Amino acid sequence: MENDIILKCESVVKLYRQGENSIYALRDVNLEVKRGQFVMICGKSGSGKSTLLNMLSGFDTPTSGRVFIDGVDINDAPEKERCRIRNEKIGFVFQNYNLLPILTAFENIIAPMQIGKRQWSEAYFRQICDRLGITDRLNHLPAELSGGECQRVAVARSLIGQPSVLFADEPTGNLDRKSSDELIELLKMTNREFGQTIVMVTHDESLLSIADTVYRMTDGTAKNITGNL
Ligand SMILES: Nc1ncnc2c1ncn2[C@@H]1O[C@H](COP(=O)(O)OP(=O)(O)OP(=O)(O)O)[C@@H](O)[C@H]1O
Ligand SMILES: [Mg+2]
Repeated sequence: MENDIILKCESVVKLYRQGENSIYALRDVNLEVKRGQFVMICGKSGSGKSTLLNMLSGFDTPTSGRVFIDGVDINDAPEKERCRIRNEKIGFVFQNYNLLPILTAFENIIAPMQIGKRQWSEAYFRQICDRLGITDRLNHLPAELSGGECQRVAVARSLIGQPSVLFADEPTGNLDRKSSDELIELLKMTNREFGQTIVMVTHDESLLSIADTVYRMTDGTAKNITGNL
């Protein structure tokens, strides 16, 4: 059912121009994500994974092609509407966390709620922080946290507003095996218990089996390889 499609992109192309050189980071990418799905995107370094996530989440604009979130063409929407969609419907865990250095962990986590003047669930907040093991780190600044703790704060920030789609770019990249397993367990829990839709980039092939759908990126193209792992 079309209604069940929370995220869709059609013929998305991204061309980066640098003087004489042009790089097609994405060439005609098409994909569909159903509500409640856990989708993983794998592929070699430079294959276009982060670029695709930036297009799907509305952080950047494709050279051509269309992206729909909850049925709305995000590149067609007026700037104010795009901001609202980004704040309310999108959660994003960046490859390099993007925490604000002058805010504590707690303030970083709730920042999107304050910016969007939104309510959040105190119980969900506590549950997420407990599961991520950051409850006793909430009053610290990012500079006082380890890389893995910063990553987990960024994950809490992306989940707190229960977005329509959570995007995560290599969220386990800076974590040791144990923290990585715990983070994946948390993402699985939010997916199963709260129906959180997730689109995650990973280079860890051992994680692919827990996804409902897997895409492999090769030189700017995305192929659905679910079932051929
Ligand atoms: N802002 C930019 N300007 C020019 N070229 C870019 C830009 N961002 C990315 N690229 C190029 O586009 C291609 C895809 O980059 P992208 O960051 O999407 O790869 P990736 O699959 O996420 O790689 P990694 O696994 O290393 O994070 C690469 O060739 C990269 O050099
Ligand atoms: Mg990347």
